[in-house]
Amino acid sequence: ATQEKEEAPHAVGRRVVLFPLPFQGHLSPMLQLAELLRARGLPVTVLHTDFNAPDPTRHPELAFVPIHEALPTSATSPDADIVAQLLALNSGCEAPFREALASLLRREDVACAVVDGQWYAALGAASALGVPVLALRTDSAATFGSLLAFPRLRDAGYVPIKEERRDELVPELEPLRVRDLIRIDGSDVDALCGFISRVADAARASASGVVLNSFDAIEAPELARIEKELSCPAFAVGPLHRMCPGPAPAEHGLHAPDRGCLAWLDAHPARSVLYVSLGSVARVDRGVFEEMAWGLAGSGVPFLWVVRPGSVRGGGADEPPNGLDEEARSRGKVVAWAPQLEVLAHEAVGAFWTHCGWNSTLESVCAGVPMLAQPCFADQTVNARYVTHRWGVGLEVGDVIDRVRVAERVRMVMLGEEGDRAREKVRDLKLQADQCVAASLAVDNLVRYVLSL
Ligand code: UDX
Repeated sequence: ATQEKEEAPHAVGRRVVLFPLPFQGHLSPMLQLAELLRARGLPVTVLHTDFNAPDPTRHPELAFVPIHEALPTSATSPDADIVAQLLALNSGCEAPFREALASLLRREDVACAVVDGQWYAALGAASALGVPVLALRTDSAATFGSLLAFPRLRDAGYVPIKEERRDELVPELEPLRVRDLIRIDGSDVDALCGFISRVADAARASASGVVLNSFDAIEAPELARIEKELSCPAFAVGPLHRMCPGPAPAEHGLHAPDRGCLAWLDAHPARSVLYVSLGSVARVDRGVFEEMAWGLAGSGVPFLWVVRPGSVRGGGADEPPNGLDEEARSRGKVVAWAPQLEVLAHEAVGAFWTHCGWNSTLESVCAGVPMLAQPCFADQTVNARYVTHRWGVGLEVGDVIDRVRVAERVRMVMLGEEGDRAREKVRDLKLQADQCVAASLAVDNLVRYVLSL
């Protein structure tokens, strides 16, 4: 290993320009990549939006340059339709990004840009300025592969999803079924397909490579398929939160974590607490929220529940229903935002009830914590399917969130044989992730590639 480290490429001089999408699940992996490249000797400039701007003081060795975009409220409102929001962000940021990059090019020797894969307009803009550009996918290789296959899936009638085909396996994408394909409820299907086409076309036309927050041990066939499909290299440099040598990943957060929950966990026996969080974007209807609460109450299991302010649709306080009895209330702790990595690493945590956002999925795998999967939208259905049916590291909550079923599934993952089996498998995957982090070969390959551009 020492020899490998000595031979690892270490560069001085040529700058890499990064452009993250301004959402938590995208900012964290991009800033982790930034720290990783900087640690290998590459100077890094992060171009960023004013909207959800990262905090430069947390990354003293990176340069930050705001692009000063002007955005309509449809691009920034938490109530906005997600597809419309992504389209508005792309169109509103294209010109300011191009200007900021062009201005940097006049002053610096730029080796390449790494742009979030959802920034299809910026991918094109960087390439038009003659800058080699890599797309960072913050979702899984399976998800990205399914996006690249979207036009074929549409032609073959798999999307838009039809009720009668929901349970069919999708030929080139097993174990995915039609119902697992990326979807955004409430969004216009044509707008979603249009967005996905732009993302896939920009990767094909402009990217000199793709960087993914994944690793071979979990997605080797999916990664190979992407390289074949795009005819360019795919660097699986994940799990980024473990690779990153910089500040603790929690420090990339847009919200301040409630650290009091760690002391609360300290007071619990090993593997006795269920951690519950649906990430930074998902919102649930009041009815679903109440069934979750009653199900947790009925399970008899201690729980630490992240209820983000504003994450319950239909009003009312974002707290468990008043009807919950004292016993259930005292068994649970509710916080607005948790230091998730520390929570998952805490020995009191026995399982993670998650929406299966890709970061949460990877974090749970790397902590060796089995999951209870409740995918809400976008790539979460793909991730949940891999969690439950490819890797066997979790169970599904089920399509309908109902208090009796919730209580049963919670007990199953925390106390049942199914949970034990998932726990065993996730520990195997954790060991493989540890080995991958120790070797960090994909990062070396990426740095060599960047220097060759
Ligand atoms: C979004 C999409 O929803 C997700 O499907 C996609 O893969 C990435 O972009 P998000 O919903 O926020 O992400 O989920 P996720 O990818 O899991 O990222 C959430 C991040 O916030 C994780 O890194 C998690 O550790 C962190 N987090 C979450 C906290 O630190 N504290 C919390 O209380 C909740």
